[in-house]
Amino acid sequence: MSGRDDLREHLKYYRDLGVAGVTTNPVWRERAHSGSGETHSPPSTEHEAPAPSTDTDLDAIRIDIGDCTRCKLHTLGRQRIVFGSGNPKAELMFVGEAPGADEDEQGLPFVGKAGQLLTKIIEAIDLKREDVYIANVIKCRPPANRNPEPDEVATCEPFLFRQIDLIKPRVIVALGTHAAHTLLKTDVPISRIRGRQHDYRGAILIPTFHPAYLLRSPDRKREVWEDMKLVKSLLTQGA
Ligand code: URA
Repeated sequence: MSGRDDLREHLKYYRDLGVAGVTTNPVWRERAHSGSGETHSPPSTEHEAPAPSTDTDLDAIRIDIGDCTRCKLHTLGRQRIVFGSGNPKAELMFVGEAPGADEDEQGLPFVGKAGQLLTKIIEAIDLKREDVYIANVIKCRPPANRNPEPDEVATCEPFLFRQIDLIKPRVIVALGTHAAHTLLKTDVPISRIRGRQHDYRGAILIPTFHPAYLLRSPDRKREVWEDMKLVKSLLTQGA
């Protein structure tokens, strides 16, 4: 594919998302990368964070997880623990459901087709994957990509909480029904909670549709773009 074809495809993607234009304002990138350190205004829903953990770095959490056998997923075909990846000081964190086949193969989150779409979504708000942190509610692939079961979530989510408490993102995007329901302890449909701000472990959490769902229902990309514009404005304003 020529550079021009690449560019055409890239622009078409943003048009599909409903992006009307791009910012050339350098202030946005500076703030998004360095963080303003300002505090955010009170969001709508309260989720009390337990006392912060005393972890000093992500490696310590990874070492603690080890070659985990705490839940049954280690007997059900998982190859690799998918810990999470990105900037340990990220202001923006994405949380998905669970690794899929590609992630299990590579040991990295969101590297398959849905992951490629997530990368574009991140780039649509003028960030790069390396600027943000990406993780999942559970760190091992469930067999045949079934939904994570409650005991698996209960065993694994404390490690996600430790990651969140250490990274201290200002904004967390919960990707899809499962991540949003698990983190917010709700079963309100994602279509009703997406795009709303929830106070979560010291961050603002915004649920949105999962990129895998967008691959099946591209007409929902516009709503995700609305949610991402909100994310960007929260980060830009110092939230
Ligand atoms: N879907 C998820 O929820 N997480 C991944 O890492 C990949 C696909």
